[in-house]
Amino acid sequence: KYKNNNAVALSLTAALLFSSSSFAATTWKIAGGDSEGSSQHAFGLKFVEQLEAKTDGKYTGQLFMNSQLGSEQDTVVEAGLGTLDFSILAINNVTPFSPRVGVFTLPYVIQSLEEAELLTQGEVGAELVENTVEDAGVRIVGWAYTGFRVLTNSKQPVKTLEDLQQIIVRVPKNEIMIDTYKAWGGNPTPMAWSETFTALQQGVVDGQDNPYVTVDAMKFDTVQKYVTNIRYIFSIEPLIMSEALFQEQSPEVQQAIIEAGNAATKHSAEFLTANETRIKQQLVEKGMVISDPANGEKEWIDKATTSVWPKHYESIGGKDKLNRILRLLGREEI
Ligand code: MLT
Repeated sequence: KYKNNNAVALSLTAALLFSSSSFAATTWKIAGGDSEGSSQHAFGLKFVEQLEAKTDGKYTGQLFMNSQLGSEQDTVVEAGLGTLDFSILAINNVTPFSPRVGVFTLPYVIQSLEEAELLTQGEVGAELVENTVEDAGVRIVGWAYTGFRVLTNSKQPVKTLEDLQQIIVRVPKNEIMIDTYKAWGGNPTPMAWSETFTALQQGVVDGQDNPYVTVDAMKFDTVQKYVTNIRYIFSIEPLIMSEALFQEQSPEVQQAIIEAGNAATKHSAEFLTANETRIKQQLVEKGMVISDPANGEKEWIDKATTSVWPKHYESIGGKDKLNRILRLLGREEI
């Protein structure tokens, strides 16, 4: 009898194991270029929470921060090929694979969080979703907002374009940003995001630009001292997913992904509003010295808009598209 009981127990265990594996959640891999504590991370955590909630726990995601799954630009290629599920990354690192997205990297176009929300969540954002599906095989399913990319460096306060010429600045591998630094008379060194901390630490480059929240999360204050409050790009960081994976899903799961992305987008704006000022203050307390660009940034703005905009009308999808955006923002057309 005792023996029989054992046999029953064994087969029950096997049945439980089988049924639990058949009910196990599908776990998608989500890459992120920044560390924990970043806007990307806050966005990713909210997305996973909402994805689980909206699919009764059948789908979840695992975040791999700090470029563990490759550089941000590599993750676009991987997701396009279907070998990676999701990635949260700066829009400037999507642009090389879908140049029309470059409209969000054009200097001095987006000038506040509200403008970033208006564009990403409206018809312009919807158009860019179509563009990236077509060009790169990835679908944007949410938007994180990280604030203005400020310039940091280890050498000296930078207020004028003459000051800028004294330092070597790492820039993303993005033609619009490289051209902007060239228009300013600077010395841009294109480099992957995943290599930036080490390059700053070893003095291969003197500076870089990224938002305060990112500077803090990446501990750049340990290798950078001076900050210049430029406002040339308001950083937008989309969540992209493999279009092939999206198309494999049922309409219900697709809907859950979109809704989770929308909830994470809303949360990202709240995260930025709640944390940016405090983080900036903390960076000052840790010894960073913040300056404003001279003359209300006039020379920086003039050089960038007069030479970089015309050079990139074609790649971003035409001058008319830029004018449509400027109209939407209540700005003067060009
Ligand atoms: C970059 O500078 O390449 C990106 O903006 C980094 C990031 O994703 O925060």
